[in-house]
Amino acid sequence: MRVLSGIQSNGKLHLGNYLGAITQHIAMQHEHECFFFIANYHSLTTIHDPDLLRAYTRDVAMDYLALGLDPEKACLFRQTDVPEVCELTWILSCVTGKGLLERATSYKDKVAKGIASSMGLFSYPVLMAADILIYRSDLVPVGKDQTQHVEMAQDMGGYFNQTFGKEVFKRPEAKLNESRVVPGVDGQKMSKSYGNTIELFDTAKKTKKRIMGIKTDSTPVEAPKDPDGCNVFALYKLMANPDEVNALADRYRAGGMGYGDAKKELAEVVERVLGPARERRAALEGDLSFVEDVLTTNGTKARKVAQGVMAEVRETCGLIAGKETHR
Ligand code: ADP
Ligand code: TRP
Repeated sequence: MRVLSGIQSNGKLHLGNYLGAITQHIAMQHEHECFFFIANYHSLTTIHDPDLLRAYTRDVAMDYLALGLDPEKACLFRQTDVPEVCELTWILSCVTGKGLLERATSYKDKVAKGIASSMGLFSYPVLMAADILIYRSDLVPVGKDQTQHVEMAQDMGGYFNQTFGKEVFKRPEAKLNESRVVPGVDGQKMSKSYGNTIELFDTAKKTKKRIMGIKTDSTPVEAPKDPDGCNVFALYKLMANPDEVNALADRYRAGGMGYGDAKKELAEVVERVLGPARERRAALEGDLSFVEDVLTTNGTKARKVAQGVMAEVRETCGLIAGKETHR
C-alpha cells in the first residue's frame, strides 16, 4: 500500500497540525510505504516572500524529523525536487473541465478570506491531483477540508485514462485523519489563519505563556466545573494518558481548583511531549546539511518513481515517440 500526503510550508506548525495530521502520518511509516512531501509549489499561492518560503520549507522538514519521522522508513522530500508534477499538472488541465474546478469549495473559501484569486490558486487542485497520481498512490491521509481535492484527483485520473483509453493512473482513496478538532487558545478551531495557535516549536517559556492565556469562563475557584465545556480540558484530553485525564476531570468536578491549576497541568503534559522533540530539533538546526541531505536523497528517490510514470504518460498522450495506436 503506497501512502502519500503533502504538507504546505506556509506557516509555523501548531498543536492542531500535530494532533490532527502529523501523529497519523508518522504512525503510518511503520505499516506502509510512505511518501510525505513539503508542498512548496502550493505554498507559492499565498507566500510571496522568498526568504520566508525557504525558511518555512526547511522548518517543516525539521519539524517532521524532530517529531519522529524516520527518513530511512518514509520518503520525506520537497515537492519542487520533482518538477515533473508541473508537467503533469498541465497535461491533466487539458483533460479536465473548468466546471470541476469551479466547484472547489476550498478555492471559494480562500477567495472569500481575501486571498488573491490567481490562476495558481484556481488550479491548486490540479497540481494536487498531479502530486497524488504521479506516485500511483493508494491512500492519501488528509483532513476533512481536503477530501474534495482527493475526489477531484480521482476524477482527473479517470478523465486521463478515459481520454487516452489506457489505465495509466490508479484510483487513489482519501484516508480521513481522525476527526478530532483541536481547539485554539480562544476555543475556535486552532488555525494559523485565526492567530489562536500553540506553536510546536516555540520556547518552553513562550509555550507555557500561551497555555496560561487560554480562554476560560469566570467560574470561581471554589465552584465545581464542567470539564467538557473547557478548552483547557479539551486540549489536556488530547495530550495526556487516560488515568491523568480521569484524575483532572475529578478535580474539575470536585471544585476548589482554579483554571490556572488546570493550565499548569496542561503545560506539563505539553512539555513532556514537545520538550524532547524541541531538543532533537535544536540538534537538527545545528546540522542543516543533514536536513538538506535527507531532502535531496529522498527527492531523488521520489523523482525516479515520478519519471517512470511520466514516461508512460507522455507516450500515452503522444507527446513523445511511441507505438501507433491506430485509433
Ligand atoms: P491551518 O488551519 O493552520 O492553516 P492547515 O489547513 O495547513 O492548517 O492544516 C494542515 C492539516 O492539519 C489539516 O488538513 C488538518 O488535517 C490538520 N489540522 C489543522 N488544524 C487542525 C485542528 N485545529 N484540529 C485538527 N486538525 C487540524
Ligand atoms: N492541499 C493540502 C493542504 O493544504 C496539501 C497538499 C498538496 C496535499 N498536495 C497534496 C495533501 C497531495 C495530500 C496529497 O493540506
